[in-house]
Amino acid sequence: MKKIAVFTSGGDAPGMNACIRAVVRTGIYHNLDVYGIMYGYDGMINGDIKKMYTHSVSNIVQRGGTILKSARSEEFRTKEGRQKAYEQLKKHGIEGLVAIGGDGTFTGAQILSKEFGIPVIGCPGTIDNDIYGTDFTIGFDTALNTALEAIDKVRDTAAAHDRIFFIEVMGRDSGYIAVECGIGGGAELVMVPETKTSIKDVVKSLKGLRKTKTSSIVVVAEGDEEGGAAEIMEKVKKEINNDELDFKVTTLGHIQRGGNPTAKDRILGSWCGMAAVEGLMQGKTNCMAGIVHEEVVYTDFNDCITKDKPLKKDYLKLIEILSI
Ligand code: F6P
Repeated sequence: MKKIAVFTSGGDAPGMNACIRAVVRTGIYHNLDVYGIMYGYDGMINGDIKKMYTHSVSNIVQRGGTILKSARSEEFRTKEGRQKAYEQLKKHGIEGLVAIGGDGTFTGAQILSKEFGIPVIGCPGTIDNDIYGTDFTIGFDTALNTALEAIDKVRDTAAAHDRIFFIEVMGRDSGYIAVECGIGGGAELVMVPETKTSIKDVVKSLKGLRKTKTSSIVVVAEGDEEGGAAEIMEKVKKEINNDELDFKVTTLGHIQRGGNPTAKDRILGSWCGMAAVEGLMQGKTNCMAGIVHEEVVYTDFNDCITKDKPLKKDYLKLIEILSI
């Protein structure tokens, strides 16, 4: 293998730049030519591909976002789109790929490698931490700390006004951010897609808490079955039917996707990037380079995509016990 390429796809995550840097520099260290593909699969289709040098990735390890940009490609879902992408890779002589992203990115990578036999290794880049085959995903720790800082601030004003706040954090299918910032931020309740919490349960808990506390924080993962924080707040208000209670909503949104990556995300991104390139050189393909118990582990894309990564049961118990 002489030429490889790296791209980022799907939602960006802090630490992706550290990962790109590691792929480029590990490749060059091992005498490979390394290319960067802009805008994920869209850039692959359009031939938006450029050669990378050691200096192309200078001064980015500490930056959020992704210098290679990101996109969600509709065209790549079609056979014609993938054919165009493959033609571009062939034109540039690219013999191996590193795909940085989440399960959508890996689904695309898996199809590409199966249809055209091009070796691909993934690096887990998403703030959601919902990828099987790695203890943590690149970007999760930074997003968690961003959410936590925001919760601390909301708590000050919630306490000052004796208010009940519903704080919405990201996590379309996953409650990792919600649960962990709920524990760290001392939330009274956490609502996540993985476990059902009915409006009746929320009302019961809030009424109970009111006996000992004047303010409460409910953290809601955006993918909760009962809806987003605003919707849940309206349902609770209706059910609780008490005009003396003061409810507010704060939606943290994309603030969680940006910012300088934490040390953990920089190290994780760098480690996975190096492991992906070395995996390609060893002939591995169709798998993700993740870190499990402080060791590099290569997990088949199929497992990364289809297997669940359940929330820690003890974490849910912690919230219940600590919120009394
Ligand atoms: O990166 C994952 C994620 O943050 C989800 O939690 C969220 O639902 C989604 O991305 C939103 O992404 P976008 O704004 O790019 O559509």
